[in-house]
Amino acid sequence: MRIEKVVTSGTFSLDGGTWEVDNNVWLLGDDDEVMVVDAAHDADAIAAAVGDRRVTAIVCTHAHNDHVNAAPALAERTGAPILLHPDDEVLWNLAHAEAKPDGPLADGQTLRVAGVDVRVLHTPGHAPGAVCLHVPELGVVFTGDTLFQGGPGATGRSHSDFPTIISSIREVLLPLPPETVVHTGHGADTTIGAEAPHLDDWIRRGH
Ligand SMILES: [Fe+2]
Repeated sequence: MRIEKVVTSGTFSLDGGTWEVDNNVWLLGDDDEVMVVDAAHDADAIAAAVGDRRVTAIVCTHAHNDHVNAAPALAERTGAPILLHPDDEVLWNLAHAEAKPDGPLADGQTLRVAGVDVRVLHTPGHAPGAVCLHVPELGVVFTGDTLFQGGPGATGRSHSDFPTIISSIREVLLPLPPETVVHTGHGADTTIGAEAPHLDDWIRRGH
């Protein structure tokens, strides 16, 4: 069992603005099969990292276009289903006019890959259908854009809400074991224990 990171580059667009971004694409699996977390920007690069392994699912932490823009192309190449929380359908539809997710993600759902359980945690705020993926056996959580090194994901644009992301982080993420490694959607890893002491600072500053 191993976790691999592929960094891909492209743009994020919302509310009439477009920004250059680097995204972390996470591969969780073994020599035989792999789960892809966030098929961002570059299906070729992701497929190269997958190699000849079976892709069990393309899991979307949320449907901002930078996290899902390569999902249909990767699904077509691999035959893997695209899984998304239904509350992010509105964002998915901004990214993809025709392609649709193949199945829903739900809070409390358990996915399996390479013999380990992956728990789906619904953590709205950055996006209404944002989820984190907790792998207790490995002591890791994939947080997408919900929690970064240094604070919560952005909530200044449409379909985001700051009090909601704070309550998701407080109620759902911070109770995880402090040594849990946080694999984020952009930038560096952190841990739950490194971020937890700063919650009140984030609330005070308002982002
Ligand atoms: Fe996002």
